[in-house]
Amino acid sequence: MKNSTLRTLLSHRSIREYKDKKVEEEKIEDIVEAGMQAPFVSQMYSVIMEKEKENIPFDAPILFTICVDVYKIKKVMEKRDWELVTNDLTLLIFGIQDAAYMAQNMVVAAESMGLGTCYLGSPVMTARHLKEKYNLPEKVFPVVQLVVGYPRERPPVRPRYPLEFVLFEDEYPKFSDEDIERAMETMDQGFLQEDYYRKLNAMISVKSKDEDDLTYDDYSWTEHISRKWGQWYDELEGQMEKLEACGFELSGED
Ligand SMILES: Cc1cc2nc3c(=O)[nH]c(=O)nc-3n(C[C@H](O)[C@H](O)[C@H](O)COP(=O)(O)O)c2cc1C
Repeated sequence: MKNSTLRTLLSHRSIREYKDKKVEEEKIEDIVEAGMQAPFVSQMYSVIMEKEKENIPFDAPILFTICVDVYKIKKVMEKRDWELVTNDLTLLIFGIQDAAYMAQNMVVAAESMGLGTCYLGSPVMTARHLKEKYNLPEKVFPVVQLVVGYPRERPPVRPRYPLEFVLFEDEYPKFSDEDIERAMETMDQGFLQEDYYRKLNAMISVKSKDEDDLTYDDYSWTEHISRKWGQWYDELEGQMEKLEACGFELSGED
C-alpha cells in the first residue's frame, strides 16, 4: 500500500482543461510556501503570479512564472559589502535548479490538494517579452510557467520509460537495440492509447515533406520528440541573446 505522498506523485498528469473556479487564497499560499521549502542552493528564485486574467493558457485561473533570480543574492551581498564574482553560467546552472525544485514542489503541493497543473516551456523563447511585461530586474530569467486550477478533465497517467532504462546500478550500461525498442514501445503505446497528440492537435510536420506519411493513428511520442529536436533549434546565439537581455553574460566577454 503506497502512502498518500507516493499516491499523489504517481498519479500526476498534466491538466489542460480547467473549471471556471477560483483557487482559494490559502491554497495559493500553501502552494508557494511548499515551493519555497524545497532544498535550495541560494534561494535563487522569484515567482510572478497572474490571477483570473484572460489569455491564461487552458483558461486556468492562475499562472505562475518561475524565475531564476540572481538579483536578490546580489542585493543581499551588497549589504554585506561583497561583490558577486561567480560566473553567470555557474550561477544559472545552480539557479535553474533552485527554480525547478521550487516549481516541482508547487506542482506536488497543488496536486495533493486536488488541483491540476501544467507547465509551459515557452518562457525560454519569450524571455524578453516577459522581462518587459513583469518588469524583471537584471539577472532575473523566467525559466518556466505553471498554470494551476481545478481540473475539468481526468486524463490517464502518462507512461514513463521502464525503470531499467533509467536506473543503472554502479555503471551506465551498453544498450541493446531491444532495450531501446522496449523503452520506445512503452512510451509510444501509452500516448497512442490516449490519442494524446490528436486531442492536443499537436502534430509537428516534417519540414522537408509536402505531405505527411503519418496520421494521428500512428503519430507517437518518440516520433514527436524526434520531429521536435530533429528540426527545431534555437540558434545558440539567439538563446544567449535572451539570457544576456536578462542580464546574464555568457559569452566570456565583459
Ligand atoms: C519544462 C516543461 C515545459 C513544458 N511545457 C509544456 C507546454 O508548453 N505545453 C504543454 O501543454 N505541456 C507542457 N509541459 C508538460 C509536458 O508535456 C508533460 O509533463 C509531459 O508530456 C508528460 O505528461 P504528464 O505531465 O501528463 O505526465 C511541459 C513540461 C515541462 C517539465
